[in-house]
Amino acid sequence: MGTVGNVAGSGGGDGAVARPLSGFGNQHRSEAVPGALPEGRNSPQRAPLGLYAEQLSGSAFTEPRADNRRSWLYRIRPSAAHPPLHRIGNGGLRSAPFDETEPDPNRRRWDPLPEPPAGTDFVAGLWTLGGNGDVRRREGMSIHLYRADSPMVDRVFGDADGELLIVPQRGTLLLVTEFGPLRAGPGHVALIPRGVRFRVELPDGPAAGYVCENRGRPFVLPELGPIGANGLAAARDFEAPTAAFEDVERPVEVVTKFCGNLWAAAYDHSPLDVVAWHGNHVPYRYDLRRFNVLGSISFDHPDPSIFTVLTSPSTQPGVANADFVVFAPRWLVGEDTFRPPYFHRNVMSEYMGLIEGAYDAKASGFVPGGGSLHNMLSAHGPDRETFERASAAELTPQKVDDGLAFMFETRWPVTLTEQAASCGHLQRDYDAVWQGLERHFRQP
Ligand SMILES: [Fe+2]
Repeated sequence: MGTVGNVAGSGGGDGAVARPLSGFGNQHRSEAVPGALPEGRNSPQRAPLGLYAEQLSGSAFTEPRADNRRSWLYRIRPSAAHPPLHRIGNGGLRSAPFDETEPDPNRRRWDPLPEPPAGTDFVAGLWTLGGNGDVRRREGMSIHLYRADSPMVDRVFGDADGELLIVPQRGTLLLVTEFGPLRAGPGHVALIPRGVRFRVELPDGPAAGYVCENRGRPFVLPELGPIGANGLAAARDFEAPTAAFEDVERPVEVVTKFCGNLWAAAYDHSPLDVVAWHGNHVPYRYDLRRFNVLGSISFDHPDPSIFTVLTSPSTQPGVANADFVVFAPRWLVGEDTFRPPYFHRNVMSEYMGLIEGAYDAKASGFVPGGGSLHNMLSAHGPDRETFERASAAELTPQKVDDGLAFMFETRWPVTLTEQAASCGHLQRDYDAVWQGLERHFRQP
């Protein structure tokens, strides 16, 4: 395959595996070959080692410094060297505006996606559940699931429509990106910025998981306010890859998602040919087990915003285009408190997924690989069994450590795709989990 690499600014060396680069939002730098990264300027008259210099922007040139994202890539061929793109089939991908079905206030829950047909790779295995916003206006988000049993071979993908937050649920993904390789299995998330190209290999065999396609402002760490300087997800736990490249001269299909549709061009080389790079528009992975869970040490369950890992801010303060929230192992110690997440109706819309184990507000029916959607102001909360158990439980300190659930939360209602509204793995009886909640009211 001609893959070369593993030598980076952070260490590594002959045959050694380079340590990933640490720190969310940093100006990272990495070179797979010493001397490949120009010093003191971005675009010298002749870039080192005969490489081409190319800037990849994730923000408008003129956005404020705190929001500005770009990386400089030093590559064997410029990305511009390609023939025309042509449309290919979208498979299970759908895009905003979502108008295949009417927005539906009903609560929905799904079992895991069925196994894919043999030979399905990551791109072919993407299956859109729904979303909101408008892909042509760079707003809103989409909820995709994926399942794959085959690696991408001589095929590379990039999403011009948004960044991809990938949440593996089963199997490990080896994301071979322009910036180097990232390995993410269950318990990790991977963040691929808008436009960054990558190939997905499956080192452990078949894989499945979830994807939040965020078309709004890029995900950032949430503000911490009175929490202070530490807590929740730590910037240093986000790991960027170190430069590695492949020097491949044979046909490679480069697939681009552009305004909702898939386009492809037959390159005569691999575009994963970046020998060195620097910048802050880079992929990351994050281990959800590193999340510093904060909660109540007195009474009441805090609002689940306390579990926010990443947020995509909108122009309205405090209102996110999308949030990524994790329900990680934690202690419950609240006194005189109904400890599971409370009953609520919320103006934000919530898609929940389960990576492993169980979720403390649902006794059954919500299984790893499945998901639920509670749209704008739909009433939901613990199921009957959970309510009765938690209302009677003795309130000794309790460790909740039997599951890893997450939520994609978004400012606008999520409209389902036709396939999500009619598929066989949609549970037809989800409302029943709230049936039988008994009347306990007694007039004094
Ligand atoms: Fe909720």
